[in-house]
Amino acid sequence: MGTAALSPGRRLPPQPRTAIIGASGLVGSALLQLLNKHHFPMASCLEWSPRDFSAAALPPLDLVFWAAPAELARREIPPLVEQGIIVVDLSSAWRMNAKSCLIQRGINQHLLRHHQGLLSCPNCTNVGLVQVLHALLPVHPFFGVDVHTYQAASGGGRRLLQQIHASSADSSLFQNVIPLCDFLQEDGSTAEERRLVEETKALLQRPDLSISATCVRVPTAIGHALSLSLYASTPWPLAAIKKALKSAPLLQLYPDGLAPTPRSIENPELVHVGRIRLGASPKILQMWIVFDNLNMGAASQALWIAQALLP
Ligand SMILES: NC(=O)c1ccc[n+]([C@@H]2O[C@H](COP(=O)([O-])OP(=O)(O)OC[C@H]3O[C@@H](n4cnc5c(N)ncnc54)[C@H](OP(=O)(O)O)[C@@H]3O)[C@@H](O)[C@H]2O)c1
Repeated sequence: MGTAALSPGRRLPPQPRTAIIGASGLVGSALLQLLNKHHFPMASCLEWSPRDFSAAALPPLDLVFWAAPAELARREIPPLVEQGIIVVDLSSAWRMNAKSCLIQRGINQHLLRHHQGLLSCPNCTNVGLVQVLHALLPVHPFFGVDVHTYQAASGGGRRLLQQIHASSADSSLFQNVIPLCDFLQEDGSTAEERRLVEETKALLQRPDLSISATCVRVPTAIGHALSLSLYASTPWPLAAIKKALKSAPLLQLYPDGLAPTPRSIENPELVHVGRIRLGASPKILQMWIVFDNLNMGAASQALWIAQALLP
């Protein structure tokens, strides 16, 4: 392979030969629909089931979307990148690794200039949080973030979603909420809570932010919801905050008296924000955020990265 194929920041050809690894899953299917809806130009699109995945069996490719489990991504993505294929990874495998560029649409696209072939999409739960924090940081300085999530079953993959649809009493989520998204770590937090904290700081390049998170799985099908409190040293200017949220490109601000819900949101490619209010003191701002975890939280991010790499 020539060095040009591995040069930093390289772009895709006008009609990349494309594969989706994990096309049968929730994220893979959402991505396929979005690629078609947005007429993403592809010379070919291979839909691959990774249970018999073998990099050697793939035809020549320019672009791989990885929508399969992280364990496989850790093992299988490096050889693809070595071959000169641009990989857009939706799993958590490489996000915080220096070999990958962690990119969120509208937040840090300048990093695309430096990618080395592997680009990671953010954790779905981060997408809504980061989009809102990014809109507010230039308006009013804050130091503390306290976020509580209500995460849909589809965030746990197809099997968990099927249990919700079947209203199966065998499912741990049946008539229940579970404050354990992903496995518990030694410090008592879960892997999902750690992702929410660490990736948010990385995406915003604000390691100083003090972020506390509690992530809860709830028996909704699609659509993550977040209850957010932000702590500042001076009173929050509510009018300026609402103006900034209203004008931010990927946000939809709901008027006072209306709240977005997972069932009510109409545009799945936006983050929906409502119930903007002050908390126990004028230095605490609170709000409610809802977004489609499969679309805005995942597929839309991957599509956008690939679009941005087209010539
Ligand atoms: N769900 C979300 O909201 C969301 C958001 C952002 C990122 N992600 C990430 O995106 C990836 C896919 O998530 P998903 O929700 O689409 O999961 P999913 O619905 O469970 O689909 C997973 C895909 O990977 C395959 N797969 C599952 N287990 C496997 C195994 N042990 N070995 C080989 N292949 C396996 C499945 O193939 P079969 O059809 O053969 O089962 C399917 O194609 C994951 O890394 C996840 O963390 C998910």
